[in-house]
Amino acid sequence: MIARQPLMAANWKMYKTPEQARAFVAAFLPLIANSQAAEIVLFPPFLDIATVLESVRNSQVQVGAQNIYWQEEGAFTGEISASMVRAAGCTHVLIGHSERRQYFGETDETVNSKLHAALAQRLLPVVCVGELLSEREAGQTEEVLRRQTSKALEGISAEMAAPIAIAYEPVWAIGTGRTATPEIAAEAHLVIRSQVAHALGRHVAENMRILYGGSVKPDNAPSLMNQPEIDGALVGGASLDPHSFAKIVESAGA
Ligand code: PGA
Repeated sequence: MIARQPLMAANWKMYKTPEQARAFVAAFLPLIANSQAAEIVLFPPFLDIATVLESVRNSQVQVGAQNIYWQEEGAFTGEISASMVRAAGCTHVLIGHSERRQYFGETDETVNSKLHAALAQRLLPVVCVGELLSEREAGQTEEVLRRQTSKALEGISAEMAAPIAIAYEPVWAIGTGRTATPEIAAEAHLVIRSQVAHALGRHVAENMRILYGGSVKPDNAPSLMNQPEIDGALVGGASLDPHSFAKIVESAGA
């Protein structure tokens, strides 16, 4: 039995000013001071990163960026590179969140380029995959998950893959209050894991953490985290409140 350390991640999306971020951390740290079970990562907006890093210093909480560009530097107005994120002190990065795919033109190809850039900078990438409601209803879930996973991993070798985590986020469950049941999520995770095994071998697949995301709340987190296939949670709305995210983090150690 492989023990994968749960990864509990807060995706703040485009919420919180630096001041609000500081207040969150001040309230959050005492609530999780005794929790050892999980790796805890906050993904604030870029502008909050310095403040959050300073506020979490000497705690077990780590900080990541919500996005990167794959070039290291250059004339790319408005973009931020993996090396800048790394130099700022981040340890993690989200790649290919469905909102980026939906509103900002991310494709399987850009996700792949960003994954390479993240690994080159020794960031821990959390690659997001997930099907649309229309794809689920058309019976295409497995095909979509296999395609997104294999394209994301193109050109990645088994030796490079250890830091990678994948987040399964069914698009119909994000911000809708409609969570995948633990069984639906576990089934999707098995598909993703088998695709990782196909691309990188069984050993990598068995060690890779696959998180669930999509309307994770304090009340549904325990049953999700109870599934052996679910190795953590990527939490949006419910991560904006320190008490509610602390409760979700607790479910990883239960
Ligand atoms: P949600 O978002 O928890 O608000 O559904 C999850 C995500 O988009 O990562």
